[in-house]
Amino acid sequence: MLKILRFPDPGLFRKAVPVQTFDEELGEIALQMREAMYASRGVGLSGTQVDIHRRIIVLDEPDDEAGFKVLINPEIVWREDEEVGFDEGCLSFPSLYVEVNRANRIRVRAHDLLGNEFEILAEGSLSQCIQHEIDHLDGKVFVDHLSPARRNRALLKFSKLSKLR
Ligand code: NI
Repeated sequence: MLKILRFPDPGLFRKAVPVQTFDEELGEIALQMREAMYASRGVGLSGTQVDIHRRIIVLDEPDDEAGFKVLINPEIVWREDEEVGFDEGCLSFPSLYVEVNRANRIRVRAHDLLGNEFEILAEGSLSQCIQHEIDHLDGKVFVDHLSPARRNRALLKFSKLSKLR
């Protein structure tokens, strides 16, 4: 089973590189990421979080009827100007929840495991989840969206939560 990195593991701050080869190994990585995500009851997981620094994300957002998705080299090609607040958690920050402002609607271009390009228009929690996971691929974590004061408070809370475990 793939191990999920926890903040402040330095691997979380690495920028992932684009996938160039759509081969069996890529499919195997996606499968293992799906297993790790379900085992941790997550709704999304990025390559970065399992120390595989390639642009791969897996998602299974409960509000999304289409269910499980793999997005290779995902890119946000359009985002709505208006932002809304979402309560977010992250498998790399167990038990920490913070409100993050993000675009409510985005258009995302990505490739599937065979290398075929597709686009999706994502709204609400699916949009939130995709933005959160793409941030991971860029070496960014959800608390980075907070003001410095709120970020410090969130990190202090997380360090306390980590000691309780
Ligand atoms: Ni996360």
